Amino acid sequence: MPVSLPLRHRWPVTSGRLRRRGVNLGNTLDTLAGPSRPVSTALVAAAYRAGFNAVRLPVRWSAHADRQFPFALDARFAALVDEALDSVEDRGLHAIINMHHYTELMADPDVHAERFIGLWRQIATRYAARPGSIAFELLNEPNQAMDASRWNQLLQPTWAAVRDANPTREIIIGTAPMNDPAALEQLALPRDPDVTATVHYYEPMSFTHQGADWVHGPVLPLGASWGAREDHLKVTDDLNRVHAWSLTHGVKVLVGEFGSYDRAPLQARTAWTGHVRGELDRLQLDWCYWNLTGDFGVHDPRTGRMRTSLLRALLPESGARA
Ligand code: BGC
Repeated sequence: MPVSLPLRHRWPVTSGRLRRRGVNLGNTLDTLAGPSRPVSTALVAAAYRAGFNAVRLPVRWSAHADRQFPFALDARFAALVDEALDSVEDRGLHAIINMHHYTELMADPDVHAERFIGLWRQIATRYAARPGSIAFELLNEPNQAMDASRWNQLLQPTWAAVRDANPTREIIIGTAPMNDPAALEQLALPRDPDVTATVHYYEPMSFTHQGADWVHGPVLPLGASWGAREDHLKVTDDLNRVHAWSLTHGVKVLVGEFGSYDRAPLQARTAWTGHVRGELDRLQLDWCYWNLTGDFGVHDPRTGRMRTSLLRALLPESGARA
């Protein structure tokens, strides 16, 4: 008799691991301005009930650790990350924790490299006993002075520091600059079967980031739409290239962020989200949507409800769990 498994057990497994169809819990432990916000069990429950099987937890460790060697992590902040991981594990979700918004490292890699590795050594030791469903992502969106060659130099000793206590845990490494998919060819990864490459996909920025004041350069004007045939083809072409790189190099790829700001019209956002997600699934790439809640969110904090059109575009087959 066929057994009806919970949905998360039915997703395909690639390279011996579950393929992640996840969501970011951004603007929590990664805040740039103001105190960080703990990840509530309600937020994790919302991701679980929506039908995602993984969460990416952006963490701004660098704002919560000593400046001097041995760069001790702030115990109270680290406990918030522990609690977030506990509730993610309780739900049976996969998790990715990263190093988010280390802006000083980007501005001055030489001054901060030792601290960056020191932070990872502590994080890796702290979570060494956690299950293999938790992955470490070394650095979100390397930028400024952290160009491809500087990043390639730094990622090797960081990877080695993590490997000391975590011989087989998945380590996720992004491209410089800015997790750009076009920069995959410049990424020099360690030879390690448990390393995954990661990129972000926000193309075209003129559509996904219209009205966003944090983007480098002038604010992109409102009013850009998306949905013409050539718009679809461009996304398909971009993601086919990512997939081709993955096959050629034998390295799994996670699209760790993709999403659109709520200043763009919802109908076009839904079309964009559905097409990007559909292509990622067709190509069997792992993905995490940016973001669970807020202005990019699949969840609307003003109503406390899911934006159902975006949720359907992301997980058409799922239906919310009870
Ligand atoms: C940043 C967010 C931003 C998002 C989309 C993320 O990497 O941390 O602050 O909203 O990208 O631009």
